[in-house]
Amino acid sequence: MGRKKIALIGGGQIGQILALLASQKELGDVVILDIPQFENPVKGKALDLMEMRPLDNTSVNITGTSDYADISDSDVVIITAGVPRRPGMSRDDLLEINLKIIGDVAENVKKYAPDAFVIVVSNPLDAIVYAFYKVSGFSKNKVIGMAGALDSSRFKAFIAMETGYSPQDVQCLVLGGHGDTMVPLTRLATVGGIPVTELLDKETIEGIEQRTRMAGGEIVKLLGNGSAFFSPAKSAMTMAESYLLDQKRIIPSAGLCEGEYGIKDLFIGVPCVIGSDGIEKIIEVELTAEEKAALKVTADHVASVVEETGL
Ligand code: NAI
Ligand code: 2OP
Repeated sequence: MGRKKIALIGGGQIGQILALLASQKELGDVVILDIPQFENPVKGKALDLMEMRPLDNTSVNITGTSDYADISDSDVVIITAGVPRRPGMSRDDLLEINLKIIGDVAENVKKYAPDAFVIVVSNPLDAIVYAFYKVSGFSKNKVIGMAGALDSSRFKAFIAMETGYSPQDVQCLVLGGHGDTMVPLTRLATVGGIPVTELLDKETIEGIEQRTRMAGGEIVKLLGNGSAFFSPAKSAMTMAESYLLDQKRIIPSAGLCEGEYGIKDLFIGVPCVIGSDGIEKIIEVELTAEEKAALKVTADHVASVVEETGL
């Protein structure tokens, strides 16, 4: 069995960090694809990473291209193609432009990498991953959206920052759409196995929940010219790794719900088991009435954005 192959569609801020992470972990050979105007920059990024391998003691190959034939037979495709948020923009403001882009990307991925596990990152995430699924005709277990891994990591980071304990010991998950209506499940959050509700007061927890919902925007404001890229890249690569190494990790991600949580025909953040069959299972957690109501609000919002795609 040869080396695995990972195609990164979009070689901008997130794409370049994805390439770094994949090569440092030697998950497979990496192809970074961007539009023809950015072919030289992605070739330059790929060459820079090739020249880093002697320092890293790694052997995988990294190449840059604008030719889809070069992604042929990829095992994993991660899509960040599109435009990111600028200050004052919501993720939903990106729909029109990123929808056109995902249509083109989906046709090409279907043609050149029909067996790949596809991780969509471009925003508005829940609608763009739906569009990829519809246009490509891929099976539902092979298409997933990255959001919950990032939103949960942010939730964990804020819990660690407020308690002063290690982020390594925090466990929690965020359900729902990748937007201000997402649902951080505080009831299930623990630090070192201890419920977070025993470590922090109500007001602090509410502050953490709100900061989690708005965390993407907080970084957009600080950066001034784009959105977060280190933690989004790490989130997507963690999902890719679980697939490639058949780890069967439970990662909150946008998977196609067909009745789970009472949600039908929508990609939305739910706990997904990711292994060599892609999304192997969506785990249904028993929710309280309040959590169910919050999930309904976020699902309705995602449905309204998906409706705008006309798909
Ligand atoms: P970026 O602008 O740095 O990179 C995007 C790249 O896509 C650019 O290099 C651009 O030339 C390329 N591109 C545009 N059209 C293309 C096409 N048709 N084919 C191939 N490549 C194409 O943006 P960044 O920061 O990497 O973000 C990428 C996307 O990820 C944005 O839509 C952003 O909103 C989204 N995002 C999603 C997150 C999530 O949690 N799901 C978190 C952070 C960002
Ligand atoms: C983020 O959450 C903007 O979706 C992007 O950072």
